[in-house]
Amino acid sequence: MTSPRFITFEGIDGSGKSTQSRRLAQHLQDQGIQVVLTREPGGSPGAEEIRQLVLTGDPDRWSAETEILLFTAARRDHLEKMIEPSLAAGKTVISDRFADSTRVYQGATRGDLRAKVDALHALMIGREPDLTFIIDMDPATALQRGLARKSGEDRFEDFGLPFQETLRHGFLALAHADPSRCIVIDGNRTPDQIAREIAAFA
Ligand code: ADP
Ligand code: TYD
Repeated sequence: MTSPRFITFEGIDGSGKSTQSRRLAQHLQDQGIQVVLTREPGGSPGAEEIRQLVLTGDPDRWSAETEILLFTAARRDHLEKMIEPSLAAGKTVISDRFADSTRVYQGATRGDLRAKVDALHALMIGREPDLTFIIDMDPATALQRGLARKSGEDRFEDFGLPFQETLRHGFLALAHADPSRCIVIDGNRTPDQIAREIAAFA
């Protein structure tokens, strides 16, 4: 038996995280591993309510500072109610986004707020994934894919292409800073090719 792991997917909007989270969950389940597939913001009833607040409405509805508090509140609830109980029950948890998203979206796009993000994370979350896949791809293509979904949760896509390019560099910098946890995956390929590479690492 392998011990349960906490695996996350990160990357810019539309990069294929949800698709690949599902594929990896299926791959592990096929091997008889119990898997919980979840996402952020959200993943628990309380955090899903916060999701509605942060992902809908005008792009300038919240300042980056207020977002840090809202995303961290959602994460704390997700961690308490879903992630930690699942790991304790022996299940591997795969989350579509986690704290790296706050480090990049709130910490490195609208001024340098990374120190505030890190301080709040240390105080309220204090946990890193065992393994993180960062799906890297061309922001213009990813933005087209994401907006084509018309999910109604496009507050961050609505910031536009330069914002997505800043995010891309932010995620690559995180991967560079923590190579033992983060694996960068080239997302400019077919879903099958990407899923095969991820399965080989996982
Ligand atoms: P994310 O969760 O990162 O926003 P999704 O997995 O929801 O990304 O993918 C965004 C859109 O792009 C979806 O319509 C999905 O079907 C499509 N898609 C995902 N991966 C690929 C890929 N490798 N090539 C082409 N389209 C893709
Ligand atoms: P998600 O639904 O995964 O969006 P997408 O499928 O477009 O990638 O995530 C919703 C949005 O929330 C996404 O634009 C990134 C943003 N976000 C943050 O800004 N900070 C965070 O801490 C998290 C978890 C998400």
